[in-house]
Amino acid sequence: MDPFRILFPRGPFSMSGTLVAPIETGGTEFVPVPPDGQHRRIANMQQMIHRYLDDIVDSGTSLLGEYTHRLERQLGTRWGNRYGVATSSGTESLHFSLRIAGVGPGDEVIVPNMTFVSTAFAVNAAHAVPVFVDVEPGSWLISPEAIRRAITPRTKAIIPVHLYGQVADMDDIMALADEHGLAVIEDCAQAHDATYHGRPAGSFGDFGCFSMWVGKNIGGLDDGGFVIVRDEQNLVAMQRMHNLGRDRTVRYLHHCWGTRSRLSELNAAILDYQLSMLTHWNVQRRMIAKAYDRAFAQLPLQTPTVLPGREHVYYKYAVHTEHAAELESYLKDRGISTERIYPYLLSEQPAFADLPHRVEPTPVACANNSKLLCLPIYPELTYGEQQLVIAGVVSFFGNRV
Ligand SMILES: Cc1ncc(COP(=O)(O)O)c(C=O)c1O
Repeated sequence: MDPFRILFPRGPFSMSGTLVAPIETGGTEFVPVPPDGQHRRIANMQQMIHRYLDDIVDSGTSLLGEYTHRLERQLGTRWGNRYGVATSSGTESLHFSLRIAGVGPGDEVIVPNMTFVSTAFAVNAAHAVPVFVDVEPGSWLISPEAIRRAITPRTKAIIPVHLYGQVADMDDIMALADEHGLAVIEDCAQAHDATYHGRPAGSFGDFGCFSMWVGKNIGGLDDGGFVIVRDEQNLVAMQRMHNLGRDRTVRYLHHCWGTRSRLSELNAAILDYQLSMLTHWNVQRRMIAKAYDRAFAQLPLQTPTVLPGREHVYYKYAVHTEHAAELESYLKDRGISTERIYPYLLSEQPAFADLPHRVEPTPVACANNSKLLCLPIYPELTYGEQQLVIAGVVSFFGNRV
């Protein structure tokens, strides 16, 4: 029997990824497999979110209240001797970090060509020039050698992106930064709790910038982010920059430029809870990755390369195949949605026709970005759905030989 004829009852999904208490639909109904689990995660938290909202309305404090302080305390504890500041997004976290690091007009900042556009837009927002460099084959992480080749007297900072949930080569990157006196701003938007020789993403550079957009390994109701900073000076600077340049306790005294970019109390409450679930959820992501690795081992496709000393957190499970486009539509026809991350390199984005930037040769990124396809991987993906994904990929390649 064609596995895709299996009909799935619609129902809520447990945190552990098993289908629970199917809702009576008056018959069975085909439920497509979404590319990410954000809607299910929020649906699972619905009652909790309503309780948080009641509590926040009762308290009369919707910003910088007890939930934000609790979240920031938890961030500081989790990242050891560092401090956490909750912000409105990963994009603004990067932008503020660059400004606080002293990046400004005329400076160059090195970023990978294969990343989400925010990594580069943050550099433009700081009135500096992003320089797009190549990635490593297999891991698709920024190449230290490409960084070295791109450094000029104008280079001020490096933004390594811990793409798909795996930490870039921080030993080599920090050594380069030390050698050339550069700031390092880690883009950890996809790497909550990913580690490199036991140390978490965000604990290497001057700043660790995280997104808590709803679709990330932890995410609020909508947009959100946080920054991990190294010392009290940067803590004060970050707290001022996301709050119109003022301290949290004095309302009309503005010490420096700043903007309104705070996390809402509702998102802080949701994220404080989710942070306590993160270890467990990442284990579930790794278990699914292991099942995919095993099932695809004999197929002519490349599963994600986990580099030595890394603990991957699989924000995305990106397979590399010459047939990515055909596989994408084959799975789509069977109700399985996948994602191309990223279908366009930064150097191909129309936005940069008008924005300052510089492009280094990026042959690895150019030759491979269209061959990467991200399969569904999230804690709420049911066992049955994982089997469907596996059956889909296996039958696609089976039909080709
Ligand atoms: C690599 C990368 N950098 C930066 C961002 C920006 O984060 P946000 O969407 O929270 O602004 C994202 C995510 O969206 C991302 O994936």
